[in-house]
Amino acid sequence: MRFVPVPSHRERIPGGEVKGRIILADGTVPLREYAGGVKCVYIDPPFNTGGSFVMRQKVGEKDWAGDKSSLTVPAYSDRNESREEYHAFLRSLIFSAWTLLDGRGVFFLHLDPRESAWARIMCDDVFGADHFVNEIIWSYQSGGRTTKRFPTKHDTILFYRKGRDMDFDLKAVPIRREDNRKNHMRRQVDENGRAYRTIRSGGKIYTYYDDDPVYPGDVWTDISHLQQRDPRRTGYDTQKPQALLERVLLPVTLPGDLVADLCCGSGSTGAASAALGRPFLMTDVSSLAVLTARRRLVDCDLTVDLPSAADGGELECECVREGDSLIFTLKSYGKGGLDEADTWAVGENRDGVFTVSALSRRTRETPALAASLSMPASPFAAVEITDVYGKRSVWMEEKDKYDE
Ligand SMILES: C[S@@+](CC[C@H](N)C(=O)[O-])C[C@H]1O[C@@H](n2cnc3c(N)ncnc32)[C@H](O)[C@@H]1O
Repeated sequence: MRFVPVPSHRERIPGGEVKGRIILADGTVPLREYAGGVKCVYIDPPFNTGGSFVMRQKVGEKDWAGDKSSLTVPAYSDRNESREEYHAFLRSLIFSAWTLLDGRGVFFLHLDPRESAWARIMCDDVFGADHFVNEIIWSYQSGGRTTKRFPTKHDTILFYRKGRDMDFDLKAVPIRREDNRKNHMRRQVDENGRAYRTIRSGGKIYTYYDDDPVYPGDVWTDISHLQQRDPRRTGYDTQKPQALLERVLLPVTLPGDLVADLCCGSGSTGAASAALGRPFLMTDVSSLAVLTARRRLVDCDLTVDLPSAADGGELECECVREGDSLIFTLKSYGKGGLDEADTWAVGENRDGVFTVSALSRRTRETPALAASLSMPASPFAAVEITDVYGKRSVWMEEKDKYDE
């Protein structure tokens, strides 16, 4: 049985509770379809480092069962011809975000000290200086420490609102009280057993209960970068912790509010949105980014706009009909064996839209792909594979010319 590659520009994974869309697209080009419909845009673009970034990919069952990621694939480049070129990119991105936002929408731009001053001026231009809300400092301890100057240990997140008003609930993000904060205060216990401390200031007595919630200021020191062995690490360079995105989204959105990220990378914004019940829209120019985000979010009601590769590679697959079902058995993909296949799915491919009926993805818990997948019998039946190089391919059984 011979399968031939067929064109497909979109994948639909129906069924999940949270709706999400990931598009292989340039974030600087405003998405007209969503203009004025987004509540919060967060963007963590390249920082103008001059570097190139990679993804450390797990390949096959052996890597997924262990700690290794044996393949390094280029993910994206942060090299620019000139600073002006980078600034033109950043300005277009900020304008794109502005276009997407609704009248009460808010914008977060995540950079580091290299370009944050320029970005502030650009955001003032696009949003209006009086719509500046906060400059958040995300301070962390990880990474190397130079001794030639003070080590750079923070990123800057600029926060703007589009219109005159915005929705903001600081109480949505209570944090742990620092134990040492009130050491100089006298600790007492009230009649209900609650610990509290008092301090006299300006002739008044202030009382603080130890279990009263406290809220973050604009310097965040309590969220660390993902550790090397964190199971949520995708291998995509520059992945931000989901907790950081949840801190950003919780005060400014409610379940159901649309969240967008125009440079989504590994999809941390989508992961945080999905966890909080917010629908999401994400774009990236790297197909590896789109597929990394997709593999994190396959449990959502997901639409992925990523064209299938023209050179579908080699696929060996069998298909048998049992009653009203088709049973596909995957034998080999790419250079042989199944190691290069990261996920595979069966479903219908109609007018270039592949709708998933069943999908198998490698995880730490299930390092091997399912050998067989089934779907209802259909003349549009197709097989889809995404591979470790960031390629998506769709195949259909070759029709015998006498069948036509
Ligand atoms: C710093 S990474 C984002 C990391 C992401 N926040 C995460 O947690 O994984 C920047 C991303 O911007 C993407 N990018 C660069 N230029 C872009 C453009 N013009 N449009 C959309 N994405 C772009 C890169 O491919 C890269 O994935």
